[in-house]
Amino acid sequence: MSKLTTLTLTALLLAMGNAEAQTTLRALADAKGKLVGTALPSQYIDNPASMPSGYQPTLANEFNVYVSENSFKMSELLPNAPANPFDVQISDLSTAKIDTLVARARENGVGMIRGHALIWHTQAPSWLTTSVTGWTSDQITAFATSYIKAVVTYCKSINDAVDAPVRIYEWDVINETIDKTTAKDKKRARRSAAKSSFGYRTGTWYDGVADRQAFIDAIFRAARNADPNLRLVYNDYGIEFYGSPKCNFMLNMVGGMVARGVPIDGVGMQCHFQGPDTSGAGGFSSSNAEKFRQTFAALRALGLEGIVTELDLWLQTDSATTEGKVTSQQLALQGDQYRLIVSTALSEPNCPALVLWGFTDAYSWIPWAWPGWGHALPFDRSYAKKPAYEGITNAIKALPAVVENKASSSTTTPP
Ligand code: G3I
Repeated sequence: MSKLTTLTLTALLLAMGNAEAQTTLRALADAKGKLVGTALPSQYIDNPASMPSGYQPTLANEFNVYVSENSFKMSELLPNAPANPFDVQISDLSTAKIDTLVARARENGVGMIRGHALIWHTQAPSWLTTSVTGWTSDQITAFATSYIKAVVTYCKSINDAVDAPVRIYEWDVINETIDKTTAKDKKRARRSAAKSSFGYRTGTWYDGVADRQAFIDAIFRAARNADPNLRLVYNDYGIEFYGSPKCNFMLNMVGGMVARGVPIDGVGMQCHFQGPDTSGAGGFSSSNAEKFRQTFAALRALGLEGIVTELDLWLQTDSATTEGKVTSQQLALQGDQYRLIVSTALSEPNCPALVLWGFTDAYSWIPWAWPGWGHALPFDRSYAKKPAYEGITNAIKALPAVVENKASSSTTTPP
């Protein structure tokens, strides 16, 4: 083969390689000034070498923001009772959990990490669920605010390091504190403006607080006091569609916080969506898209960002036991629906980030949490791109050059 042909071929291959690199989700998101990310399982964070060969390269190529699926939760960061639970110190925390994810991000050249979640009624350490029963309302608040101060202050020390390559730029301060109300609550709801069949969740370890909203305000203030630059988010599921009772209650709750000057920057919409069933029916529709768009508009009117924090779109399978098979029609429809979800969200000026709850069907909570459903993510179990991946990339390609984030000064510009 002549020298010239070799050179031409090499140039061609290089160009193809570059073209390929340019079309990765990560490159497209960077070009549009958006964050597109994924949740990471503890197995990868703790021991990346233990992952299948396709995991690391796909992760490194495709995403510019990470969130830990489990290791930033309280049961992981504070597994043992602190010396003084009403004044939690950094020394009480398992900070290595945070350092390890920062190390993974640094290895992949990713500078942005979302924290999930400071306060949640699930995955709370067993010592807490036992001891809290004897605490007063003030003691519960003192525990929660001091825990938040310790975690956020530790993360700030990482963020403030000289030209820090990685930042934990945002936290879900509290997750899923809204829920269907019981009869008892309905009486209380009738008194409050929000005549909704949704209200504050009960059955949580922090039920003992005298005033739930005052507790919520206090924990957001504690996070802001600990780090003035940190983005503060309320995160939940089932709040995506404008006009739904749960969305109403959420907007009423965060609207009240904004009115009272409580520091809050955005609302995380988890977006765990059921997609087409085995007949190809159902899933994310254009009317869903319209209601979804209206929720972003309502948040923008409050000066808040809307963040997609845990997106997956599940397909009904042909088996209720193992993760059964799906049809090529379902996979094609899933691609269309992912495109609609991503374009609806990322087209909104106050939607700076979209995070998937995993990226490969090999590591997804859906099959074990929702037997009979699965195949929820853009890469299959052997890391091959699914039509869902094309749907997501086509949606991002179609976005205007850089959507100016109108809700707030952009914190999402990668460092
Ligand atoms: O780490 C233990 C392991 O030591 C033990 O052998 C194994 C067997 O029981 O359990 C492992 O813990 C599991 C943990 O995931 C880590 O894999 C817990 O049992 C299991 O409950 C936990 O599930 C997580 C779930 O939150 C907890 O509610 C899922 O991975 C995680 O995807 C899910 O994420 C939540 C978001 O935080 C909030 N929104 C909904 C979303 C899905 O439920």
